[in-house]
Amino acid sequence: MTGQGKKKNEPLLRVANLVVEFPAGRGKRVHAVSGVSFTLDRGETLGLVGESGCGKSSLARAIMQLPAPTAGRVLLDGEELTTVDSVWLRILRRRFQMIFQDPVSSLNPSRPVGRSIEAPLLAMGHDGPTERTRRAREMMTAVGLDPDRYYDRRPDQLSGGQCQRVSIARALMTGPELLVCDEPVSALDVSVQAQVVNLLAEIRRTYGLAILFIAHDLAVVKNISDRVGVMCLGHMCEVAPCESLYAAPSHPYTAALLAAVPRPDPGYHPPETGLLPGELPSPLDPPSGCRFRTRCPYNDLLCATTQPELREIAPGHLVACHHPLQGKGGV
Ligand SMILES: Nc1ncnc2c1ncn2[C@@H]1O[C@H](COP(=O)(O)OP(=O)(O)OP(=O)(O)O)[C@@H](O)[C@H]1O
Ligand SMILES: [Mg+2]
Repeated sequence: MTGQGKKKNEPLLRVANLVVEFPAGRGKRVHAVSGVSFTLDRGETLGLVGESGCGKSSLARAIMQLPAPTAGRVLLDGEELTTVDSVWLRILRRRFQMIFQDPVSSLNPSRPVGRSIEAPLLAMGHDGPTERTRRAREMMTAVGLDPDRYYDRRPDQLSGGQCQRVSIARALMTGPELLVCDEPVSALDVSVQAQVVNLLAEIRRTYGLAILFIAHDLAVVKNISDRVGVMCLGHMCEVAPCESLYAAPSHPYTAALLAAVPRPDPGYHPPETGLLPGELPSPLDPPSGCRFRTRCPYNDLLCATTQPELREIAPGHLVACHHPLQGKGGV
């Protein structure tokens, strides 16, 4: 699982100017992702957060080529995925796998989960049935599922957390270097969420995997991520190492998201007025310039006329804002 075909100085994943748009009738388009760029190193975990509808899943699916993006580049280990032919893409797929939000519906309901875990090996034409089953059982043990008990069960005979363990086992069968996890714990209750996040962290250490970990809120990605990216209506507005993003958010949108994270403090009352005033603009007709400007207290003419580019304000800390927060004390 460690960087076959590794190219010198090339990150494992490079996403450049990625655009995802959907036709919406009458000549209109949904601007789901509008020019997002970032890199992910081998073994690194990048958390990706943003409000519902900001384009996280569209970005994840475009990376997976499910389907390919409207425009932009996705390079895995230096290899362009958006233009590669379908046969080679199928071969490359073993190196990047995805885990979906809804663990139950992402599995075949009528198939024993052990067989679902074997399926990627079957699709690749690898190994005979005995070896496939042996490896599936081994992987079940690795994700904390007793194969004697669970191999023959169907998804509806497992809990949500157990189904997500099955999905993780299935994704690991091809020996991927990159795991794209699209809200892998959002459908689970809080106690199970922590177990699945810990399992992913353990798997990352054991197999040296890189993970793109998508979540709704900043609390979920905090303990697992090396860096965190924040998306606002199709734009990446801030990317920073975990500690500097949480200690000193620079984009007013990140600060607002952080302020909205519930705190385990009985004396703390979140502001009643709401932290993100105003309507979330439509991705059918996003604002000009900065996509957060219609809800931002620092909004001015420059924000409306010029889209802020991501720029480095501290080592590894990038922000796309004309009026970054340093010293303003948040929103
Ligand atoms: N197949 C599609 N056709 C048309 N519009 C789509 C399609 N998929 C997504 N969209 C739209 O693109 C925008 C981004 O959706 P996306 O699912 O990527 O957001 P998200 O950040 O993953 O949201 P959530 O946190 O709710 O999962 C939304 O406005 C959504 O309605
Ligand atoms: Mg989504």
